Amino acid sequence: MHACNDSWTAAMCDNVQEKKKDRGKTAMDCQNISLPVKGIGVDIEDISRFKDLNLDENEKFLKKIFTQQELSYCFSKKNPAPHLAARFSCKEAVIKALQSAGFDNPGFSAIEILNDKKGIPSVRIDKKDFKNVTIKISLSHCRDKSLAFAVFFEDK
Ligand SMILES: CC(C)(COP(=O)(O)OP(=O)(O)OC[C@H]1O[C@@H](n2cnc3c(N)ncnc32)[C@H](O)[C@@H]1OP(=O)(O)O)[C@@H](O)C(=O)NCCC(=O)NCCS
Repeated sequence: MHACNDSWTAAMCDNVQEKKKDRGKTAMDCQNISLPVKGIGVDIEDISRFKDLNLDENEKFLKKIFTQQELSYCFSKKNPAPHLAARFSCKEAVIKALQSAGFDNPGFSAIEILNDKKGIPSVRIDKKDFKNVTIKISLSHCRDKSLAFAVFFEDK
């Protein structure tokens, strides 16, 4: 049993203690736990910046920022602008998370945000130095703004 008050800290504490035990060390005091988070990033964008963009007239600009799969996803929607803005926010959030941990900016087009069948987004960075990084993301959009959050975890 641990001495943590809230359930999230308690869960993290149990996790860390479990890892420590695995390595044959004594369990850590709850006050001193070190979370496996290297960096975080957040970003908000005006959806209006992405309004009226289309693949015919704005192809060069769009392809500088978004991958082919991202464009296919966004332009499969009735209104692509919130989805484009959310991905742009997310790329900025990922860059912030990486840079806050001392990593270089991999560039917009190397950061790809894809959704699984349930709609859950994940990020992949198409660059050698970033093959083993684990970043969790979350996206949101309303009428005029998009928002994204990224958490960069220690390698396993
Ligand atoms: C998944 C859900 C939470 C999305 O919330 P939302 O307010 O509709 O949408 P947001 O603008 O905040 O977020 C949209 C983004 O969430 C992400 N997303 C979609 N489904 C997701 C899921 N299952 N899990 C995590 N993220 C998801 C996507 O990135 C999406 O943006 P994208 O399509 O551009 O990639 C919502 O659709 C849902 O299922 N809510 C539960 C409703 C419910 O249980 N009601 C019953 C009680 S009243």
